[in-house]
Amino acid sequence: MIMHFRRFLTTRRGALAGLFLLGFGPPALAQGFPSKPVTLIVPFAAGGPSDVIARLLGEHMGRTLGQQIVVENIAGAGGTAGAKRLVTATPDGYTLLIHHLALAAAPALYSNLGYETQTAFAPVGLVNTGPMVIAGKLALPPVDGKAFFSYAKQQAEKLTVAHAGVGSNAHLCAVLISQALGAKFPQVAYRGTGPAMNDLVGGQVDVLCDQSTTAVPQILSDKIRAYAVTSPERLGVLPNVPTSREAGTEIDMTIWHGLYAPKGTPAAALDKLNGALQAALKDPAVLERFKAVGTSAFPPADWTREAHARRFAAEVAKWGTALKAAGLTPQTVN
Ligand code: MLT
Repeated sequence: MIMHFRRFLTTRRGALAGLFLLGFGPPALAQGFPSKPVTLIVPFAAGGPSDVIARLLGEHMGRTLGQQIVVENIAGAGGTAGAKRLVTATPDGYTLLIHHLALAAAPALYSNLGYETQTAFAPVGLVNTGPMVIAGKLALPPVDGKAFFSYAKQQAEKLTVAHAGVGSNAHLCAVLISQALGAKFPQVAYRGTGPAMNDLVGGQVDVLCDQSTTAVPQILSDKIRAYAVTSPERLGVLPNVPTSREAGTEIDMTIWHGLYAPKGTPAAALDKLNGALQAALKDPAVLERFKAVGTSAFPPADWTREAHARRFAAEVAKWGTALKAAGLTPQTVN
């Protein structure tokens, strides 16, 4: 038996297989990773905040890894269509997903996701965190946050609120506004806040609560009006926009993005991807781009895969409890 195994090791194919059996196989393969372009799924439409962050990060990580990162927008069902695509991909590190807290909130909102949220994903690392901005079309009568909340309460049934599908950040923010005001708004769902923002600028919808990433540029170029930020402090880039508490209706919401691979992806590939992510988050040019749109990288202590996994598990539990308490019941994915 031992003789057989030695002879097996002396042939080329046998030697490779032997290395694998002795536990050296996966690291040796990972040294060459990635040897072809990597797909990064964005689960919302192009031009929205997840897309903007994905393209910025993808370009930088691609340079570090020596392979292009190709963004693919797979939008629909509040970001769950893109998540589903990731979990069915080969777990080899060549298909990734950028997603935000909606990935953690989805099991409380959808009864037939087709995957187990707590176990289907291999967290690669946390990306950015920031507030939402409650904004309205320019033609809307209120000109400041206090006036907006009182107008929204009185005119609720006439005010159309855009979002990016059930469970998206924009939708969860709309739910929080409704709860805080005790008012119900007609909602208009889009495949992402990119197209929703276009319609807000065009005046086809009245209100959108969007991530600062894509709201800030429109506010600074006077295309929409900002009423409040959902962070406890004002944003440096929007010093004249009050916090929701200052505007008299407290709405607390902090969003975060993370990168994911399908479960079963080799640890060596995940480490390499995490290293490329960390290189991007250390680059002052990336941090400047984040700052300009009111978002931030996580502190370095949170850059590990383990920190991401801990946060993800905690957020799944948190949103499960919070959405149940808010009376939202799971619906089926179309
Ligand atoms: C997007 O990129 O469209 C957003 O992340 C959607 C959202 O969750 O509001």
